Amino acid sequence: MLRNIELTANFLTAKLYNKPTSGIILGSGLGGLVEEIDVELSLPYSEVPGFSVSTVAGHSGRLIFGQLNGRPVVAMQGRFHYYEGWSMQEVTFPVRVMKALGVVRLFVSNAAGGLNPAYRPGTLMAIADHINLFPEHPLRGKNDDALGPRFPDMNDAYDPALRLSAHRIAKARNIELQEGVYAGMQGPAFETPAECRMLRMLGADAVGMSTVPEVIVARHSGLRVFGISVITNINVSGSHNDVSHHEVQQAAAKAQPVMSLIIRELIAE
Ligand code: HPA
Repeated sequence: MLRNIELTANFLTAKLYNKPTSGIILGSGLGGLVEEIDVELSLPYSEVPGFSVSTVAGHSGRLIFGQLNGRPVVAMQGRFHYYEGWSMQEVTFPVRVMKALGVVRLFVSNAAGGLNPAYRPGTLMAIADHINLFPEHPLRGKNDDALGPRFPDMNDAYDPALRLSAHRIAKARNIELQEGVYAGMQGPAFETPAECRMLRMLGADAVGMSTVPEVIVARHSGLRVFGISVITNINVSGSHNDVSHHEVQQAAAKAQPVMSLIIRELIAE
């Protein structure tokens, strides 16, 4: 794997003047932040060696390099989901490449279902912690010590200092920013009401089908992580709404500018 990571990183480095220090992964309907990037290089995943090709509607699948608020960034517009059939190695490969390019901080966003009764569609939630319910672990198998430790610490996986800054940024702009626990499920079916009750009992505030694998690999790689969920639908007993991919995308698109503002300001800092 190390060799594949280096091949991709070398291919990209040769095309870049500025090496990124922040990585951004934009979830379903949340790709709008890339419009604020002063783009140096934009490649469809099909032109990035070692990258898989994203298929789901709403995931345009581009790797974008440039300046965001004057800071060098690399952004993934669209990610690889486990439910699409990619292996955990394929899902998390871009994070390895980011690390090899010199990235030190990862900003991840996702659309998620709300389990906390205080949440509404459009609520933004800084991820404080996660519960990994994926059936496979991205670090399963022989560990390459050159990439990270065998048993990475997952305390404070979501960087406390970045979370604090996010709350300060939100407060200064009168943005409601919640903080909670994200449960990562493999999908692709949305959760049943019984599953939602179970996830709530487990201590989750939101549920989604991404992020957890990338964050585990980011922590394994020593990256600092900030994660944010856009609550697109409510999965609370009694106030369940019907949920479709279309509705998720619409709700995400609406909350997108505010989410982008928080990430942009965090990166500027
Ligand atoms: N469940 C899982 N993933 C999701 C949801 C949900 O309710 N909404 C958006 N992504």
